[in-house]
Amino acid sequence: MNWLIKTIGSSIGKKIIMALTGFAFCGFLAGHLAGNLSIYGGKQALDSYAEHLHSLGPLITFAEISLLIFFIVHIVTGLTLFFGNLRARPERYVMKKNAGGRTIGSATMPYTGLLILAFVVFHLMNFHFVDKTTQTISQIVFSAFSDPVYITAYVAAMIVVAFHVSHGFWSAFQTIGVNHVKYMPVIRLTSTLIGLVIAIGFGFLPVYILLFS
Ligand code: HEM
Repeated sequence: MNWLIKTIGSSIGKKIIMALTGFAFCGFLAGHLAGNLSIYGGKQALDSYAEHLHSLGPLITFAEISLLIFFIVHIVTGLTLFFGNLRARPERYVMKKNAGGRTIGSATMPYTGLLILAFVVFHLMNFHFVDKTTQTISQIVFSAFSDPVYITAYVAAMIVVAFHVSHGFWSAFQTIGVNHVKYMPVIRLTSTLIGLVIAIGFGFLPVYILLFS
């Protein structure tokens, strides 16, 4: 138990928590994207997918609670690391911008993370915490994406998510020690592909609804 508290309290322990919760989000995003692809099958396909999901009852509640816990842990740990790094490097302004292996991807992680938090709150208020007794999921989604402001906000948010996940995925492998020179090109390519799948897979859905519904 003592070692667990010590590990969690250490910087590497926190990074491992970020990596594991981050991998869990990748799993959620893959499932969410697969479900959202039902939009291409039309309104009825989206509604029957949503009905099927809700019929899972306690299972879906368990998944939602787990996701929320992972989300909170990821954000709190990320912020702790961010402020810890700030305190440890008060001279950061005089350092070379890319010193210590810092890239635009790594330096922007806290900011893209906070933007994603804002997006998820906005997203849940619009699509999840709404009255689903008087309207179906397809009515909610299709009506939101008839508004160019929503579409622009969503496409921009998907690019931010793609950027965050793409860097996070690569970084998580570094954290868990899979950073052998032999595997890094594959991990880098996979991270870029994941970013593209998120940006195009999620980002094209609102545009498709506007153009073809
Ligand atoms: C065009 C892109 C997206 C569409 C059309 C979409 C659609 C939806 C819909 C319709 C729901 C409500 C499901 C229900 O309550 O029955 C939902 C829930 C949710 N979405 Fe999205 N989503 C998109 C992108 C994203 C992204 C990028 C994220 C994460 C960064 C995300 C996170 C969530 C979460 C956490 C829930 C709640 C899950 C649950 O409690 O069941 N969504 N989404």
